[in-house]
Amino acid sequence: MRANYPFNCWYVAATSAEVGAGLFARRMLGKHVLLYRQESGEVVAMEDRCAHRPHPLSTGRRHGDRVACAYHGFEYDPDGRLVDVPSQENVPPGVRVRTYPVREQSPFVWVWLGEPGAAELRLPPRLSWLGADDWPSSMDTFRVEANYLLLHEHYLDLTNVFHMHPDAVPPDLHALPALDEVEVSERSVSYSRLTTATRPAAWEKDVTGVAAEERTARLEEGSFVSPGLHVQRYVVDPHGERPYTVLRIQGFTPESEGVTHAFVRIARDFATSDSAVTAYLQQMFHEMAVRDCAALETMQIRIDEETEPRRNINVKADRAALRARRISRDMVDEESGFSI
Ligand code: FES
Repeated sequence: MRANYPFNCWYVAATSAEVGAGLFARRMLGKHVLLYRQESGEVVAMEDRCAHRPHPLSTGRRHGDRVACAYHGFEYDPDGRLVDVPSQENVPPGVRVRTYPVREQSPFVWVWLGEPGAAELRLPPRLSWLGADDWPSSMDTFRVEANYLLLHEHYLDLTNVFHMHPDAVPPDLHALPALDEVEVSERSVSYSRLTTATRPAAWEKDVTGVAAEERTARLEEGSFVSPGLHVQRYVVDPHGERPYTVLRIQGFTPESEGVTHAFVRIARDFATSDSAVTAYLQQMFHEMAVRDCAALETMQIRIDEETEPRRNINVKADRAALRARRISRDMVDEESGFSI
């Protein structure tokens, strides 16, 4: 049975910091991928399998920009062409391992494993504030033993925060208002909601300096930008003189149907030179993500145990998540006509 993730989509294969001169192996969309940085700084993504035998190239060695297999030493250039066979003089013509389109937009390295040639038609999402100096940020990565749609769904319905992360909720907020708006395009879903004015949660007070008794609203927006990217925007005092914006940008990359790599970037547009605020937010979002992952992994175990498909009920808060599931399903269905 075909997996429930589309191939024709850009996914984050690694952070820029993970890919250096060494050979870096990552499994994504069920495929083994080798990543490394050429001497020019450009990143190569290549099938992590020697053309001679099924030996991983990532266990081999670099010879300049070439990679030599650790088993019999066959050597490949950055385009995947076989260029040297140490046991004979000539090289069998036309032998190559597959290479994949790569786009680096620091701190993310995006890789396209889909239909060859189609990558140029759809570029990775442009996130202008990702590397911007006026958006101080931190990076975290997780390997979550849960399907990628469980992650999207979790972050598209933040009504779970009252139960999962009660300390992060403003003290006078007892329920989130209904979604103001759910926008759907062919391949994305966005929602937004505005809360009533409340006093700040402890963390909001700590990082923004908003006074404990000051009442302000919150704007919360989330986007399923693609099956590989989720963006959330949280604004304290959105209509005030100085709104405080926190972004959580998450690359979700299926390793397989039951495992997802999550690349989590937290950025903000206030206290821009205060590294203590960066560390505070990093720690807080890390602890929240650990709890989120534990809940998602528990559900994945239940899903795997169920011997027949179970029907889940849905409520209004699931609206955006259901649309995201449908988009992914449509993308997978569209691909059923060709093999990757
Ligand atoms: S398996 Fe790679 S050179 Fe033989």
